Amino acid sequence: MEPNDAPQSANAEPWPPARTIALVGLMGAGKTTVGRRLAERLDVPFTDADDEIAAAAGRTITEIFEEFGEAQFRDGERRVIERLLDGPPGVLATGGGAFMDPRTRALLKERAISVWLRADLEVLMRRVSRRDTRPLLRVADPRARMRALMAERHPVYAEADIVVDSGDGPKADTVEAIVQAIQTLKRARPAP
Ligand code: S3P
Repeated sequence: MEPNDAPQSANAEPWPPARTIALVGLMGAGKTTVGRRLAERLDVPFTDADDEIAAAAGRTITEIFEEFGEAQFRDGERRVIERLLDGPPGVLATGGGAFMDPRTRALLKERAISVWLRADLEVLMRRVSRRDTRPLLRVADPRARMRALMAERHPVYAEADIVVDSGDGPKADTVEAIVQAIQTLKRARPAP
């Protein structure tokens, strides 16, 4: 189905959705890659929250963690996500910890369609090992750290509106699975 030809029922939201689609999930889940492609598919703008945070701070994410610590990073992250949700709807890739912060999660639940990109440990580790830009994984045993983060975060990510698996298959399939799930969600929960 092409971007703008989804069937519209009398009280359904417009298509693409009037709300921002926020991708959540662990580092390496593919939020940025899939998010860009989803935005192209829907012909809406794409934003990466980490890029916006770094631009606002004039520092890399690693520098923000080193200079100010994680708690301040989370505050900045929440403010940036709130500002982005005030803007036009689009696709938003959030950082892996954003949905874990209760206030950021509340914002995303209230104002976005949240999509958990779920991936297994092998897939996540393979993807994160390509870059050394993640302060939380700069530890002696990144694999054990990732396993601990999965145990802690998966139950919370599961609160997202939509869950889609992000494995090794073609990204286009993941994008289509999200599009289908959003259409199903819209049918189940039409706009008031
Ligand atoms: C984090 C994930 C990172 C970045 C920061 C913290 C996390 O984003 O926000 O390093 O807590 O999981 P990505 O998920 O885009 O790597």
